[in-house]
Parts: sequence; structure tokens; C-alpha cells
Amino acid sequence: MQNSTPISLTKIANSKLPEIDFSSLVFGKSISDHMFVADYQNGSWGDFRIVPYGPMEIYPGNATLHYGQAIFEGMKAYKNEKGEVLVFRAEANAKRLNESAARMCMPQLPESIFLDALKQLLAVDRDWVPQGKGSSLYIRPFMFAMDNYLGVKPSDTYRFMIFTSPVGAYYSKPVSVKVETTYTRACEGGTGEAKAAGNYAASLYPALKAQKEGYDQLLWTDGKTHSQIEESGTMNVVFKINGTLITAPTHGGTILKGITRSSVLQLAKDWGQAVEERFLTVSELEDALKNESLEEAFGVGTAATIAFINKIHIHGKDYLLPEVAPDAFSKRVLLALDGIKYGELQDPHQWMLTI
Ligand code: COI
Repeated sequence: MQNSTPISLTKIANSKLPEIDFSSLVFGKSISDHMFVADYQNGSWGDFRIVPYGPMEIYPGNATLHYGQAIFEGMKAYKNEKGEVLVFRAEANAKRLNESAARMCMPQLPESIFLDALKQLLAVDRDWVPQGKGSSLYIRPFMFAMDNYLGVKPSDTYRFMIFTSPVGAYYSKPVSVKVETTYTRACEGGTGEAKAAGNYAASLYPALKAQKEGYDQLLWTDGKTHSQIEESGTMNVVFKINGTLITAPTHGGTILKGITRSSVLQLAKDWGQAVEERFLTVSELEDALKNESLEEAFGVGTAATIAFINKIHIHGKDYLLPEVAPDAFSKRVLLALDGIKYGELQDPHQWMLTI
């Protein structure tokens, strides 16, 4: 394997692999044997190493713990029938990490370091990549501040790490969502488009509230007027109304530039499917539910790929969506994405990186 980043390797003494039941993987529970670590000091990245996954020491004054300078990515590797490991759109994640880093005053990580680290880590832990439809290796690259300093300012030192986790389906059944009109995930000028840890922390309270009311997730609305749909839970969201896909545009700073989102839109374009990248208003959605012109609604994200929505709560009322037909766009796009990811279908956009 071509690798220009010098990465030292310390292998685990006893692999945890025999403890893993690959037939019942719970998202995020099992962590693979090794992790990649790099440190940023004096303006450059160095000390590249792959070591056994385990705890690490940080000072109680670590700036991340206090002011939340932390960003992450989510991506997945798959095993094809030949046993080769394929990663979906790795370069897009490397690029987005740097976009998040810029917004959070964190240093840029050269894409070559990101990709070399990923390739080497996956080569070391390739036996952790599950084989079989529905399962994959979730990859978590992340960066956080390392200064031991309590003043509020961008840290001077950072750590970048990658660890992985074999996973099964994120949602085992369609999800119910509630339109959120009190709390906000993101607002103009905020950090909504960055994959910043704090965005997820701020979403926990309203999400938990909705879960206590019996819904799986939220449909987030804009922070100013709560009249436009933005995202769903930790995913982008797509609606199909009167034959057209509608999803929020990503140029306003509040919407995450989802890589699954852009892949779904690319396939829609390839298939000649009508798409509108615009905000759907809550009242449009309510009307479409009432007059049954809403054909499909689904979340799109790395963890779930496609999360079918079967119930939407708006203005005190629950609306049930029709069962997803076998030829529905969301079903077809999920099949096509899975086919590409597991190496069964052609990869016309060169999305897969073979390790
Ligand atoms: C995704 O599905 O893209 C996510 O970011 C989910 C993750 C926060 C578990």
C-alpha cells in the first residue's frame, strides 16, 4: 500500500475480536482493536501512530471539556463478496472535516494524512469490517482542542483521532418524527453546517422530550420563524411531494452538507428524478399530509443511510404516511447505494475507495 505519512504501529496484545457477535451488532457499542492518533503542536501535525484502542490522559483544564472545540466525521467501510474493504466517499469526509475545522478555528488536516491514516487503520483492523448486507464498519474521525488553559480562545494544540466500530442497522424500523417549533438545532450565523460536537449536545434535550412524548426524532425547523423544515434528528431530510423530491439547500449555513444527501441527489439526477433544493414550509408539509400529496419522507445520513419516516406530528396532530412501496424512490435509492457500497453495482461516480 502506498502511504506517505510515517505512521508507527503498536499492535494490541490480545484482540477483542473473538468477543464480538457479528450477528447482533448494536450501533456504536463495540469498538475495534486499534485507533489512529495525531497531535498538532507548533503549527504542524505529527507523532502519527496507530495504537490499541484505550483510554487517554487529558488535563481537567482541557479546553474541549470547557468550551467545546470539537468536530467529528462519520463514514463507513464495507466488505464485498471477494472480501475486499471499500470505503464510501472518504475524500468528501476529509474535505468536510476541514470545513468544520475552519468554522471552529481549528487547524486544517492535510487530506493525505486523513486518507493515509484511514487506509492504514483499516488495513490493521480489516477483520473488524463485517461481511453481509446491512452491516458495515462505522468510522469515527474527530479532532479536539488539547490546550490545558482556561482562557476563552482557540486552542494552540489539537489531537486528531480515528477509531472504528462494526455496526448493524441504525434504525430497525421506520421512524416517527415531531415538528419542533420551540427549540432550534441551528440558526443563521451559527455552527449548524459544521459537524461540531456542540450541535449534537444542544439537540439532546429537545430530542429526549420528543422521545418521552412517543416520537423517535424531531423535524428541526429554522431558528427565526420555525416555519421551514431544516433537518431530521442527526440527518438531512427529503420529502417527495407530487413526484418531486424536496430537501433544504445547504448554502445558508444552517444545514449540514450531508454526504449521503449529496449522493442521493446525484443518483436522483442520474435517473432524471425531479429535485428541488429549497426549504419546505411546515404549512406546505401539513397541506401535503392533509391532501395526501406527500408520497415519501425520509432521513438521509451516514449512520442510517435512508431512514423511512412513517409518522409526522404537526400542530398537535399525528399524520400517518403511506407504507413505502417497493418502487418508491427512497427504496430504490437505498438499494442503489447499498449495491454500490457492497461492490455489487457499478460505481459510476468513483465513490468507493478500495483499501
Ligand atoms: C449521520 O448519520 O450522518 C450521523 O452523523 C449520525 C451520528 C451522529 C451517529
